[in-house]
Amino acid sequence: MENTQNAPVTEKKKISLSGIQPTGVMTLGNYIGAVRNWVKFQQEYDCIYMIANLHALTVRQDPAALKKSTIAAYALMLACGVDPERSIAFVQSQVPYHTELTWILNCYTQFGEMSRMTQFKDKSAKHADNINVGLFSYPVLMATDILLYQSDVVPVGDDQKQHLEVTRDIAERFNGIYGNVFTVPEAYIPPSGARIMSLVDPTKKMSKSDENPNAFVAVLDDKDTVIRKFKRAVTDSEAEIVYREGKDGINNLLTIYSAVTGKTIAEVEAEFAGKGYGDFKLAVGETVADHLRPAREKFNEYMADKAFLENAMRSGAERAAYIARKTMSKVNKKVGII
Ligand code: TYM
Repeated sequence: MENTQNAPVTEKKKISLSGIQPTGVMTLGNYIGAVRNWVKFQQEYDCIYMIANLHALTVRQDPAALKKSTIAAYALMLACGVDPERSIAFVQSQVPYHTELTWILNCYTQFGEMSRMTQFKDKSAKHADNINVGLFSYPVLMATDILLYQSDVVPVGDDQKQHLEVTRDIAERFNGIYGNVFTVPEAYIPPSGARIMSLVDPTKKMSKSDENPNAFVAVLDDKDTVIRKFKRAVTDSEAEIVYREGKDGINNLLTIYSAVTGKTIAEVEAEFAGKGYGDFKLAVGETVADHLRPAREKFNEYMADKAFLENAMRSGAERAAYIARKTMSKVNKKVGII
């Protein structure tokens, strides 16, 4: 008989899962709102992070470019601090259970629920010539990503809140019919930085798909570019560096500076009391550029080491599939799929 008396009592850690689309560049918004929390969560949770390349197909993509950006996004996720040994880091399409479970969950999701998704409405307005069914059922694929791994907590920015709510609804509905099949996940939306705004129009979310590249800072922008973009950032006609309603541009810069320095907004206000907007913007630009430099350097290292990346992806996908397979077979059994 196995001697378990001296075995350490280890509490099972909770599971954190999240994902990012590979198209476009990773922005400072993605980083502050989501990815840097993924990195922190590695200390507390069993973490699973993925590049959501199947999600990217909801908008027409150039195949060669998608392939390239998927690999680059994976490398950048690691460069930002996701450790592929400690966490499971994988590419969504390399675990086919995602598409398999999505079909089943499609059959447990209501048309009305999907029609209410604000991101669907926004995206269909933007891509009026290609309102495909994938775009419509996108949140079901996202629910699958989360539920396949019995995730407890999902660190995301503010714009994913509604998708998380619908994921919980789908899980609860399914559990209501078949018993406890899925863990019902919680969203983790950071108290500050969950919605980083555009530098050109601070009433709009910073988005990688913005046509104006000055609207966003990319994690891979070089120092001069970062500084230049912050120097041009739209603020207001006052001269006070305080967080206040109506000062969207300054509020955004304060939030960004606070996020990368770890200082509170009040501390930042005190630091810049009596200083001009020019000084403040320069300080934000320099601090952000310095903060992002290690990720930029690591990214170049990883991109030069294709064998490392391929290995990490393969092993990530295998580890992910091991967990996903268990959920998938439980679901198939429950619904009567042989
Ligand atoms: P995506 O690729 O649009 O964005 C990745 C993460 O970045 C956050 N984010 C922001 N946070 C703060 N300020 C901003 N301006 C900003 N812009 C983006 C997003 O909220 C997100 O957390 N559908 C998801 C990807 C996904 C996923 C998942 C996430 C696929 N499967 C499962 C969680 C769990 C998306 O398109 O994120």
